Amino acid sequence: MTQLHVLDHPLASLHLTRLRDKNSRPVEFRDAAKKLAQLLAAPATHSLSTRRIELTTPVAETHGTALDETVSLIPILRAGLIMVDPFLDLLPESEVWHFGMIRDEETAEAESYYCKVPEDRPTDFAIVLDPMLATGGTLRAVIHRLQRWGVKRIAVVSLIASPEGVAALTAEFPDIELHTCAVDSHLNEKKYIVPGLGDAGDRTFNTLR
Ligand code: URA
Repeated sequence: MTQLHVLDHPLASLHLTRLRDKNSRPVEFRDAAKKLAQLLAAPATHSLSTRRIELTTPVAETHGTALDETVSLIPILRAGLIMVDPFLDLLPESEVWHFGMIRDEETAEAESYYCKVPEDRPTDFAIVLDPMLATGGTLRAVIHRLQRWGVKRIAVVSLIASPEGVAALTAEFPDIELHTCAVDSHLNEKKYIVPGLGDAGDRTFNTLR
């Protein structure tokens, strides 16, 4: 089964409150989104593969840890961009591959309009960044694309998820991990998460009209 991890922490609740509040200005919204992404980065990377290395402190010989796999951050355009820097701060050697997805109005299927990955060199661990897991249609398409690329392990990180989206991913992908700060009540008729936060892209980039 897809493993669902909901971050239960007072700091997550505090910043989620700022994120949801419709009176938060874009600067506050971006700040809250980045802090939540950073809080999620630790649990989302708990399975990172590392190896032991030797080193010397000013006092003694000891050992430490080095990363032992390639990690790629996959922000889904455009809202996922806000989550990149908090992850890069902690994993500065990560590759970043941007995925652009659009919903086909006739088939209701998510289609890729931008995806450029080095086909001959799959990453070991892909961390997909999308603030809102709503229907799950986009993320399903992205995960299929990553699997075709040959990625071995995939984690999805969303600030807020819907029960419908969680169910869709859970049913289809037994091996991926899903990390979020909240699983909300439901999707409304426009497929927005309730209570949610509105449109994450518009609130991040100040394009609300
Ligand atoms: N995308 C958003 O930005 N918000 C939602 O509630 C659902 C999808």
